[in-house]
Amino acid sequence: MSIYKAKDYKELSRKAANIISAQIIMKPSCVLGLATGTSPIGIYNQLTEWYEKGDLDFSEVSTVNLDEYIGLDTANPQSYRYFMNTNLFDRVNIDIHNTNVPNGMAADLEGECDSYDNLIHMLGGIDMQLLGLGHNGHIGFNEPGESFEKGTHIVSLSQSTIDANSRLFESKEDVPKKAITMGIRTIMQAGIVLLIASGKDKADIVRDAFWGKITPEVPASVLQLHKNLIIVADEDALSKSPVTDNYTVLR
Ligand code: GLP
Repeated sequence: MSIYKAKDYKELSRKAANIISAQIIMKPSCVLGLATGTSPIGIYNQLTEWYEKGDLDFSEVSTVNLDEYIGLDTANPQSYRYFMNTNLFDRVNIDIHNTNVPNGMAADLEGECDSYDNLIHMLGGIDMQLLGLGHNGHIGFNEPGESFEKGTHIVSLSQSTIDANSRLFESKEDVPKKAITMGIRTIMQAGIVLLIASGKDKADIVRDAFWGKITPEVPASVLQLHKNLIIVADEDALSKSPVTDNYTVLR
């Protein structure tokens, strides 16, 4: 795994956006796996800025998002589809038909999970998957204890995730209790995994996930086994990890 240490969130966003841009430039028709949460917002702003300058072209890019709440329709500002449209898709020249987010309103939710895996397969797999990191080590919505073997599936959100995500809702009661998420197997099949982490509140989980033991209790720890894992984190998020240089390659 390679680790880029950024001095702050702005530099982290710029470095990670650079890596995504390189992927788009090397393969204009690439499949990007995208993430929501607050961490990727700076990246999406940076990518938009470079697009506006004429330095990036999304016209052939396809995207698949990691997850979506069950029961929120796409017009709901808390839905991940709405988040992606407003933070990236509506701001660049991507063909909206080439953007994919699981449908949390599907009548047949199990069928939706199977179709999502088939879709990823039909697209030829994910070239680069962007990931944030939950405080309990979740990636996408794969909560502690989740089997490493699963493809896209339905999950019940843990109380700590509901609590953490409630900051974006009017009240805790408004946070959906279930979601559809790509599974760990789906994520591990991506060609490159790009994980970002920012802030002191992520320092413990960054250390445990990438320097601790590999266990389903810390879902992100499985990424230690990925052949091409890139971590971009700021000094605060790396403050409890043994990283001294701005660029480190382990194993
Ligand atoms: C949510 C998302 C995850 C995200 C996590 C961390 O639960 N489903 O994909 O990584 O939150 O979010 P943040 O970046 O806001 O800390």
